[in-house]
Amino acid sequence: MNERAGGEAFPGRFPATRLRRNRRHAWLRSLVAETRLSVENLIWPLFVHDLAEPEAVPAMPGVSRLSIEGIVDAAAEARSLGIPAIALFPVIDPSLKTLDGSHAVDPDNLVCRCVRALRQAHGNEIGIICDVALDPYTSHGHDGLLADGQILNDATVEVLTRQARALAAAGCQVVAPSDMMDGRVGAIRAALDAHGHDDVAILSYAAKFASAFYGPFRSAVGSAANLGAADKKTYQMSPANSDEGLREVALDIAEGADMVMVKPAMTALDVIHRVKTSFGMPTFAYQVSGEYAMIHAAAAAGMLDLKAAMLESLLSIRRAGADAVLTYFAPTVAERLASGS
Ligand code: PBG
Repeated sequence: MNERAGGEAFPGRFPATRLRRNRRHAWLRSLVAETRLSVENLIWPLFVHDLAEPEAVPAMPGVSRLSIEGIVDAAAEARSLGIPAIALFPVIDPSLKTLDGSHAVDPDNLVCRCVRALRQAHGNEIGIICDVALDPYTSHGHDGLLADGQILNDATVEVLTRQARALAAAGCQVVAPSDMMDGRVGAIRAALDAHGHDDVAILSYAAKFASAFYGPFRSAVGSAANLGAADKKTYQMSPANSDEGLREVALDIAEGADMVMVKPAMTALDVIHRVKTSFGMPTFAYQVSGEYAMIHAAAAAGMLDLKAAMLESLLSIRRAGADAVLTYFAPTVAERLASGS
């Protein structure tokens, strides 16, 4: 007897709509998929240090700090996997960190040397995205200049414009201010344009939250010890707010941002969605270090399946509205997608 239920009034017509029909076969699920995760959506964040040997980051399984040569090789790997761009984060020797973070504007600092090596090896075949913020360079670990316990806005912006110019001169195609100072996108745009870098794009960390999920990153770049018990709540956004995130994004677009970013991703899927639908801008999301560490830790404890959780988390970020996702999973995902497994 067939399983079909139904009263006398609607013989064979209950329920009239069966959404499970489209879920019945893998090929059909694939045909009706509304969102896809492709290698073209991925940006791979990398940590560069000034040592010859790679150094594992304990809180981020599978992630190491690499030498400049190691980064050049990683970029080759990214290219062969089809990952369009990498994002660079320098681990600065503590002896070079100062109150004013002045090493950030040195054209021969680690990240500038790394960018030059990358451009020499790879030309324009891979995107190089460089963070604009002072936290790798300051002895207090803040993204801006600190005076009397306050982060100075306009004085910081002035330094950031010089940092952005140094990075652009070294050859990065995208600068990504992650500092959350007011007015920095406009100031950086003007400074780049005034110095012949009108082709360098700005990816603005527009809605960036003061988040506990940056913990592993701060230990990876070595700013955790500098920051100590301090927090970044006077410049990064409160997780309570999303209207404010839209105002941040609107300002950055008005100031000349080419792409906008929401960060973290998994705790701000609603913000990603609002930003994408409100502005129709290229919208990126950062699956941050804590999100990566959390998935790895749960998988290592046998609590969830690493591959499935990784793919689901990234697909969900795409579904929320992100065009591209910065993720430490990038090479692993790219390999999985290529092998179809
Ligand atoms: C610093 C910066 C941070 C991240 C990217 N750029 C940390 C912070 O704001 O304290 C976090 C990335 C991650 O957690 O993966 N300006």
